[in-house]
Amino acid sequence: MLTIVINGKKVKAQEGSTVLENIRALKVDIPTLCYHKDLSPFGACRLCSVEVKANGKWQIATSCNTPVAEGMEIRTDSDAAKESRRAAAELLYYKYPETGAVRDVARKLGVEVDRTEAEGHDCILCGLCVRTCREVVGVSALTFQDRGRGRDMKEPEIIFDPNACIGCGSCAYVCPTGYVQMETDGDRRIIWGKVFKMVPCPVCGRYFAPEDQLKYISKTTGVPLGTLTTCVDCR
Ligand code: SF4
Ligand code: FES
Repeated sequence: MLTIVINGKKVKAQEGSTVLENIRALKVDIPTLCYHKDLSPFGACRLCSVEVKANGKWQIATSCNTPVAEGMEIRTDSDAAKESRRAAAELLYYKYPETGAVRDVARKLGVEVDRTEAEGHDCILCGLCVRTCREVVGVSALTFQDRGRGRDMKEPEIIFDPNACIGCGSCAYVCPTGYVQMETDGDRRIIWGKVFKMVPCPVCGRYFAPEDQLKYISKTTGVPLGTLTTCVDCR
């Protein structure tokens, strides 16, 4: 265990843990949009910014991807930390003014948000869908197309690989803005524009999973496909 100081209070921290995990353990409320506890950190939204003392100097750092170190001092409530989070929220609101999740965070951090009804579902490039697909599902059907040199792109964007996608819908569940739309209707599911065939349970008749997902689970776990095609409730 390490000893760190958060807002003047000495606390014990696990080696390898992040500043954000330790802040949250103290019930300090820090908003996040690109963080998920089960995924690798990404550091995209900057909403989790705090002040960290490094080499004797206070600096702004994103808490979700900053690991703790022995004796580290952290301030969440200084003017600089609060202003940094507010500026991150303001930038997001400037770019995605119609998106509910962005507006909620912006309001919470003191940004003036207009009162009109939010109807947008923009992709805010938080990367949660990409990381979930790769790290949890193990499929990598989504990737970031970066604005690398020589590419005529203003912003990075998400690239969908229809040949890799198994239609599980994890990306739609994790997306904070509703950008990833999934429609399941009877024997078919549509996600990222690809149509998947749903499998009906032979016992209750309910269409419960895409065929491609069951095939993938069978292949990766060795459980026979014949077992998986009966839904969990009827097995
Ligand atoms: S589609 Fe959703 S989850 Fe994926 S990067 Fe965009 S906002 Fe984040
Ligand atoms: S939650 Fe840390 S940068 Fe987004």
